[in-house]
Amino acid sequence: MDSYLELSHVTIDFPTPNGPFRALDKIKLSIDQGEFISLIGHSGCGKSTVLNIIAGLHQATEGGVILNGKEVSEPGPDRAVVFQNHSLLPWMTAYENVELAVKQVFKGKKKKEEMKEWIEHNLELVHMSHAMDKRPDELSGGMKQRVGIARALSMEPKVMLMDEPFGALDALTRAHMQDSLMEIQTELNNTVIMITHDVDEAVLLSDRIVMMTNGPAATIGEILKVDLERPRDRLALAEVPEYNHYRAEVVRFLHERYKNPESEQETDSGSNSETATASAEKPATQNKQENEEDTPVLYAVND
Ligand SMILES: Nc1ncnc2c1ncn2[C@@H]1O[C@H](COP(=O)(O)OP(=O)(O)OP(=O)(O)O)[C@@H](O)[C@H]1O
Ligand SMILES: [Mg+2]
Repeated sequence: MDSYLELSHVTIDFPTPNGPFRALDKIKLSIDQGEFISLIGHSGCGKSTVLNIIAGLHQATEGGVILNGKEVSEPGPDRAVVFQNHSLLPWMTAYENVELAVKQVFKGKKKKEEMKEWIEHNLELVHMSHAMDKRPDELSGGMKQRVGIARALSMEPKVMLMDEPFGALDALTRAHMQDSLMEIQTELNNTVIMITHDVDEAVLLSDRIVMMTNGPAATIGEILKVDLERPRDRLALAEVPEYNHYRAEVVRFLHERYKNPESEQETDSGSNSETATASAEKPATQNKQENEEDTPVLYAVND
């Protein structure tokens, strides 16, 4: 049987002044509908690039992505992205940012009043009701990130692509968001691919954890299937031996099999450690995606 989302031999060469740079090499992965996949790997290995290719924002040099029998060639509302660097429209309030996405997806399907309720409901899910009339420059990094998540959720996308969505949140909000995400995903049965640096988060949320090798020419090193019953409860799981076994497997991969290539250099933030701290927002220069920060909407809309 064909899988729902198929990455077949995805290879990408970025042009650089010194010639092509191969970031990803023949990534092969089949994902089922409703599956929750975490992508984990050291900084710079190519996680965001994988997500961007699935989103249709980058084109693979070789190979490609098939979603539901159709090749992905451009962004679309069936794939909502929560970017590593929140990308809200600066001149719109939190409410209006979510409204924009809701209008694009539900125009003609929801009445005006229903849309309003739906927007407010999604902002409430991320604990942003109190600040929905504020503009991005009046919000903290974590708050902006939550609006980005509300915006993605509000589209009820078939595939949610999340790039370290909870990295900038405090521990309590983060736990709340993880629980909400699990509930929403169970309800909607949408497919989620989430990048994280947090081992506990990966084990708690995922059906499978895809561990990437270090770049250049990164590929999939190991895939860990997480066979823990759902619904999952973070407190109860802490006592479960299997949970700790899965956790140890991921830590072993990151620390033994594929050590952090930057660990000997004092380069960037501490977000490569086994669990990223809740406040680990990255320095602005760290990410190549930074120039996509102004990407206006979740997906480029051509209408
Ligand atoms: N547009 C681009 N042009 C050239 N090189 C790029 C481009 N985008 C990414 N790269 C390179 O590809 C590699 C993978 O980058 P990517 O952003 O996917 O890493 P990542 O795993 O998401 O890292 P992090 O955890 O720090 O976010 C890096 O070496 C990066 O420098
Ligand atoms: Mg990244």
